[in-house]
Amino acid sequence: MLFELAHITKTFPTAQGRITSLDDVSLSVGEGQAVGLVGESGSGKTTLIRCALLLTQPDGGAVTFDGTSMLGATREQVRQFRRQVQLVFQDPFSSLNPRMTVEELVGEGLVIHGIENSAARRRDSVAEMLTVVGLRPDDMKRYPNSFSGGQRQRIAIARALAIRPRLLVCDEPVSALDVSVQAQVINLLREMQKALGLTILFVAHDLAVVRHLCAHVYVLNRGKIVESGSRDQVFDHPTHPYTQALLAAVPIPDPRRRPPRRQPAPAAS
Ligand SMILES: Nc1ncnc2c1ncn2[C@@H]1O[C@H](COP(=O)(O)OP(=O)(O)O)[C@@H](O)[C@H]1O
Ligand SMILES: [Mg+2]
Repeated sequence: MLFELAHITKTFPTAQGRITSLDDVSLSVGEGQAVGLVGESGSGKTTLIRCALLLTQPDGGAVTFDGTSMLGATREQVRQFRRQVQLVFQDPFSSLNPRMTVEELVGEGLVIHGIENSAARRRDSVAEMLTVVGLRPDDMKRYPNSFSGGQRQRIAIARALAIRPRLLVCDEPVSALDVSVQAQVINLLREMQKALGLTILFVAHDLAVVRHLCAHVYVLNRGKIVESGSRDQVFDHPTHPYTQALLAAVPIPDPRRRPPRRQPAPAAS
């Protein structure tokens, strides 16, 4: 396994005492696989991703990347890890610094990790990456605010992939996008998985979104994995009532349970 989370537990202090956000969560991602993690809002998905990427310390459990235990790893091991694992966030409207050009945004990782120190060659890499994600090389001169939501998520994907990570973690990357644009971004990730041999951990609150991308799916409910299996098992023969409810509840019937949605920018993706 390229990436393994074992028995992750995480609690937070609140006025009413500690709440358990993750309770003994285990999950593994094989090299070249696309794995889905699905659960409704508040189920603990982002908390798990934050533990997995060493952005917060779990109360217990183990994070293993390519055979190295990452909790208690050396600084050099953590540096290597950060170079091999990249994250795409949910909200492309806040995740890209509006004062940086696309060239700076996509090329930043190449600078930080000392991969390409020549500005000219870096520009070539950025141009190539933009083409790969379906944008134009000329777009590198522009600022994120002049792009639509779908285009911004393409920029975020180019930025993440520019340093050629082995694992791409996506935390609800299409949840803030217009439905018609969601499939385009999912298709792009699928192409990237195939063309680059990329390993993907894809987080969503909507089971339908992972169906086309992920061969293996985990279902998270209130901080616990209640179901996991191949795409066919989970979609065609769900065993847990929560999974059955998720499948039946697409779209979620009560609109008040949906997080507020941003208006997509007017331009097409
Ligand atoms: N920093 C924090 N302090 C207190 N509670 C938190 C914190 N982060 C997350 N939680 C709680 O953990 C639970 C899971 O949250 P989260 O991981 O964001 O869920 P999801 O990403 O699935 O919507 C929620 O009940 C949330 O309120
Ligand atoms: Mg979340």
